[in-house]
Amino acid sequence: MTLLITAGPTREPLDPVRYLSNQSSGKMGYAVAAAAAQEGLRVILISGPTNLDIPDGVDYIPVETAQEMYQAVQSWIGKCEIAIFAAAVADFRAANYAEQKIKKDPAQDTLTLELVKNVDILGSVRKDFGYTGLLVGFAAETENVLANARAKLLRKDCDLILANDVSNKEIGFNSDQNALHLITAEKEESLGQHSKEHLGKLIIQKCVKYREDQD
Ligand code: CTP
Repeated sequence: MTLLITAGPTREPLDPVRYLSNQSSGKMGYAVAAAAAQEGLRVILISGPTNLDIPDGVDYIPVETAQEMYQAVQSWIGKCEIAIFAAAVADFRAANYAEQKIKKDPAQDTLTLELVKNVDILGSVRKDFGYTGLLVGFAAETENVLANARAKLLRKDCDLILANDVSNKEIGFNSDQNALHLITAEKEESLGQHSKEHLGKLIIQKCVKYREDQD
C-alpha cells in the first residue's frame, strides 16, 4: 500500500530575500510518515522547508511553494491508496513577485502588499485529479473545533479529518505533543493528547483499518 503525505509549511516568496510562511514545524506530518514507513507502507513525503531529519525509508519530495506542492501531489497521487494532508499551506501568495529586493520608500511609513489566494490542494484532489482513495485532512482551528472540522470534511470531500485546537499553546504547531479529534461522516472520536510520535502511529492504525473496512 502506498501513502502520500504532505507536511510542513509552504514558503511564498515576495522578492529574492523575503517570503511569507507560517509556524508549522512539520513534526506531525513527519511523525505520520515515519510511522507509516515502520508499518511497511511505501511513503511519498511531499514537504515544505523544515529543520527535521527525513524519516528512514520514505521517498522525499521537497517543495517550497503551494503551487509546487500542488504539482507534486498531482504527479504522485494516482499511485497512492491513502493520502494524508498535514501541510500548513500558506493561504495567500504575493500577487506580484518582485524580481529585485523591495526597497523602502523614505517618504512612506507603510507598505501595502497585494496577495492572491493559493489553490486548495486537499480540496482539489477529488475533483481535479479524480482521486478515489482514502482522503484524510487536518483542521487547525481556534474556536468551534468540531463544527468547523466537520464543515471541512464535507467541503473538501474527505473520509477523515484530524482536528486540533491551535489556540492551546501547550500543544500543536511547534510542540512535541498534540491532541487530536478524529472525525468521519458518522462519528467523532478523541485520540487524546500524546506525543506526535505516538499520534502518528495511532493515525496510521486508524487509516489502515478504515481503508480495510471500505474494501
Ligand atoms: N490545505 C491544502 N491546501 C490549502 C489549504 C489547506 O491542502 N491551500 C489542507 C491542509 O493541509 C489541511 C486542510 O486543508 O489538511 C485544512 O487546512 P486548514 O488550514 O485547517 O484550513 P483552510 O482550508 O486553510 O481553511 P480556513 O483557513 O478557513 O480554516
